[in-house]
Amino acid sequence: MKTVRGFASATVGNVACGFDVLGFAIKEPGDEVILTLSERKHSSCPVTISSISGDEGKLPLDPKKNTSSFVVLKFLEHLRAQKGIAFNGHISLELKKHLPLSSGMGSSAASAAAALAAANELLGQPCTKMELVHFAIEGERVACGSAHADNAAPAILGNFVLIRSYTPLDLIVIPPPDELYCSLVHPHTELRTSFARSVLPNEIPLKMATQQWGNVGALVAGLLTADYPLIGRSLIDVVAEPKRAPLIPGFFEVKEAAQRAGALGCSIAGSGPSIFAFSSSPDTAREAGIAMQEAFLTSKAKLPSDMWVSPICREGARIL
Ligand code: HSE
Repeated sequence: MKTVRGFASATVGNVACGFDVLGFAIKEPGDEVILTLSERKHSSCPVTISSISGDEGKLPLDPKKNTSSFVVLKFLEHLRAQKGIAFNGHISLELKKHLPLSSGMGSSAASAAAALAAANELLGQPCTKMELVHFAIEGERVACGSAHADNAAPAILGNFVLIRSYTPLDLIVIPPPDELYCSLVHPHTELRTSFARSVLPNEIPLKMATQQWGNVGALVAGLLTADYPLIGRSLIDVVAEPKRAPLIPGFFEVKEAAQRAGALGCSIAGSGPSIFAFSSSPDTAREAGIAMQEAFLTSKAKLPSDMWVSPICREGARIL
């Protein structure tokens, strides 16, 4: 018997203007997956789930339906079909969820990334991290019906990740500027990604597209040159934010509070309801986070929240 413990942290998809093409990882919180390898005796399925904690019983125990086990099955299939490595053992999976579900914090991606990091380690690292991203994306399809990569890719690779293309997958890892800090505020309410995607238009006017790609390009330039004011003025989303903001009680008050506290910019984390802000010092990031929490609490919905302040995680999914 051999046991490996994988960890992957929360991620923020979209980063305002980069709908489905840009995301980043923070250092914590994150999910843990413990895999134990043994001889296959009872089960016909090579992966079974022994326990899940922290999900209030909401996640499926069926290995083909749970994101973390599903991606390990995909990984094993790939080893057999593409690398000629047959797996005849059994993997027992224990999932420790620390990230809230349907939060916009990349909860399903973190579970998938932690499971994949552990599985790869357990079997002697047959895949690169870049290869693991493919399976993590398949996990997103199981979790919410859409195979977007802007949480899965940074959950595995860390940093900012730009998805230049989905077919074929072409990922560009962008290291963060040293003084960039994220305040991430999670109000105690759920918003399902599938629903938050259903409110988006299938087509957008050219004028809107022009604004959006101007901001994505500028944001990437700002990150690469550590130009904090440029990062701040590029955090504008004219596509998803206007449609999703009404789904998040207090969104405009929270955004205004972050900006008043000195944040560079603020937008919805992934599909929400969490909201993130960037600042160029840890003190400002903390002040912005506290102001955002207060704004959630004093808004009409009076939502309590959790808050984290973190630099960008450079490491990605790892073994504990
Ligand atoms: N890009 C995805 C979306 C992120 O906005 O639906 C989900 O966290």
